[in-house]
Amino acid sequence: MSEAAPVVVEVGLGERAYDILIGPGLLARAGAEIGQRLPGRRAAVVTDDNVAAAHLATLRAGLEKGGVNPAVITLPAGEKTKSFAHLEEVVDGVLAAKLERGDVVIALGGGVIGDLTGFAAGIVRRGMNFVQIPTSLLAQVDSSVGGKTGINSPRGKNLVGVFHQPKLVLADTGVLDTLPIREFRAGYAELAKYGLIDRPAFFAWLEENWQEVFAGGPARAEAIAEACRAKADVVARDEFETGDRALLNLGHTFGHALEAATQYDGARLVHGEGVAIG
Ligand code: GLY
Repeated sequence: MSEAAPVVVEVGLGERAYDILIGPGLLARAGAEIGQRLPGRRAAVVTDDNVAAAHLATLRAGLEKGGVNPAVITLPAGEKTKSFAHLEEVVDGVLAAKLERGDVVIALGGGVIGDLTGFAAGIVRRGMNFVQIPTSLLAQVDSSVGGKTGINSPRGKNLVGVFHQPKLVLADTGVLDTLPIREFRAGYAELAKYGLIDRPAFFAWLEENWQEVFAGGPARAEAIAEACRAKADVVARDEFETGDRALLNLGHTFGHALEAATQYDGARLVHGEGVAIG
C-alpha cells in the first residue's frame, strides 16, 4: 500500500528556498526526493550509533532505490558530539569519500547530528549541498529548519557555527514511533513554544489535541506541519536573526544555562527539557 502524500511546507528564501516534507515513509523515498531536486549527486550520510541501529538500513535502501550509494559516517550519540573533534571527523569523512561541492551531505539524526553535519557541509569545499533528515520531534519542528548550524564551545552552547540552509528537509513522522517518550515530551515543548510566541489558535489546538499528537497519526503530522509553517515564516523574514528570529529562542536562554550547569549530560537533562523549564 502506498503512503499518503506528505505535507509540504516551503521556506521562502528566494533562490535558496527549499521544501520541508512531512509525513510517514519518507526515509524509504529519500533517494527519489533528493534525486528530484539534486539529480545525479553522490552522498554521505552522517548519523549516530542509536539512530543508525534504528533507521540507517531503511534510509540506505531508500537512497539506493534512487541510485545513490552513500558513504556513512557514524558518531557517538549525545550532546558531547557537537565538538571540534567530531566536526573534524565529519569533514575528514566527507573528503575521504571524495565528494565534490555539488554532492550532498545528509544528516540523519536529532539536533546534535543536524547541527554538526550542517556546519561541516557549510565549510567543506566552501559549502556543500546539505539535506536534513531529522529523527526526533525536536529536530523536526525546530533545529532542522532555518539553517542554523554549529557546535558547542567549552565556553557555551552553539557558539561556533554558520548559517547554512539545507536544500531539503525530510521529516519522516514514522520514525517518531520509536522515539523514547522522554524525548517526545522534550520536543513537545518546542511545539508549545510556537503557540506561545504568536499562534494562540495553535496553542488552544494543542491543549485540545495533545493526546492525539502523542498517539501519532494525522494530528501529529499536522502539529509538526504547523510548527514548521510558523518557523518558516520567521526564517523567511529574518534569516540571520537581526530581529524577529530571536523570538524563536523563547525558553532557550535559561534552557542553555541549565544544560551547561548539568554538563550537557543527557541522562540528567535533555535540550527540550531545558527549553520547557526556560
Ligand atoms: N532554534 C532557534 C532558531 O532556529 O532560530
